[in-house]
Amino acid sequence: MKTVNPTDLQPAEFYRYMIGTIGPRPIAFASTIDASGQVNLSPFSFFNVFGYNPPTLVFAPTINRHGHQKHTLLNVKEVGEVVINIVNYAMVEQMSLASAEFDRGVNEFEKVGFTAVPSTKIRPPRVAESPAAYECIVKQVIPTGTNSPGSSHLIICEVVMAHFHDAIFDETGLVNPHQIDLIGRMGADWYCRAQGNALFEVARPKIGIGIDQIPAPIRNSSILSGNDLGKLGSVASLPAADDVKAFRESGVLNELFDEARNGCQYLPDLLHLRAKQLLAENKVQYAWLTLMQEHS
Ligand SMILES: Cc1cc2nc3c(=O)[nH]c(=O)nc-3n(C[C@H](O)[C@H](O)[C@H](O)COP(=O)(O)O)c2cc1C
Repeated sequence: MKTVNPTDLQPAEFYRYMIGTIGPRPIAFASTIDASGQVNLSPFSFFNVFGYNPPTLVFAPTINRHGHQKHTLLNVKEVGEVVINIVNYAMVEQMSLASAEFDRGVNEFEKVGFTAVPSTKIRPPRVAESPAAYECIVKQVIPTGTNSPGSSHLIICEVVMAHFHDAIFDETGLVNPHQIDLIGRMGADWYCRAQGNALFEVARPKIGIGIDQIPAPIRNSSILSGNDLGKLGSVASLPAADDVKAFRESGVLNELFDEARNGCQYLPDLLHLRAKQLLAENKVQYAWLTLMQEHS
């Protein structure tokens, strides 16, 4: 275990630990304008949603290595409006190019080839290619430090209008994660793509028995993982003794009992391995009925 006190390191060194471990981070592709109407477009992964009533987004430009405030921050202080455009995989290289240190006044929409569409309620344009775009009013700008490199300004935004590509929705009107194809920022030059095998579902838990109520030989299994135990702990109650007996009598586990008897295998291990398979298929009740054979 490495234990680190941030004050023992240079800020930039501790930054590397944080961006490597706190991720994937969504990317706010922020379009802003200055007082003369010049447009700017830059990505920020110090970003997230912090509430939905009112809908609240926060992102944070840092003070750059020369000690200067970034153009996005200067702009929102002049014109307190921003479109937060969401970035998907198809946009990643152009978005990255937009992060280069272009001079103030350079319009990154033109530099990196994105299409500017007028917003409905605010002055900065949005990115047509973004699967989702949030028009926002800046509510507060809060500095986190003393304007030294790496300190940041939290830009707290309220969404006043939003635009979504039709293609991101499934037939029930929900956003389909496969279709939106989001990306996230990791440490160093790494990104990740929320697509294919990277996506998985976890059923929302009801109040379950909890891992502490799982019988110790199961809870301390060397075969079952923390994720397996999480699924087992999410059931409302342990299976009834009658159900455990009926499951055994149904014969579905005969092959395991034979293997234990004839092959001199350790029965609890066989049961745990079978339960693990069942849990991988989200058959949690069957996994419990299997595991409880050891206690019947
Ligand atoms: C994916 C990505 C995420 C970034 N996240 C941040 C961030 O959260 N804060 C920040 O200050 N800079 C971040 N940057 C760097 C800025 O985009 C970069 O400094 C840019 O030049 C700022 O533009 P501006 O001065 O026009 O506002 C990020 C760059 C990339 C590619």
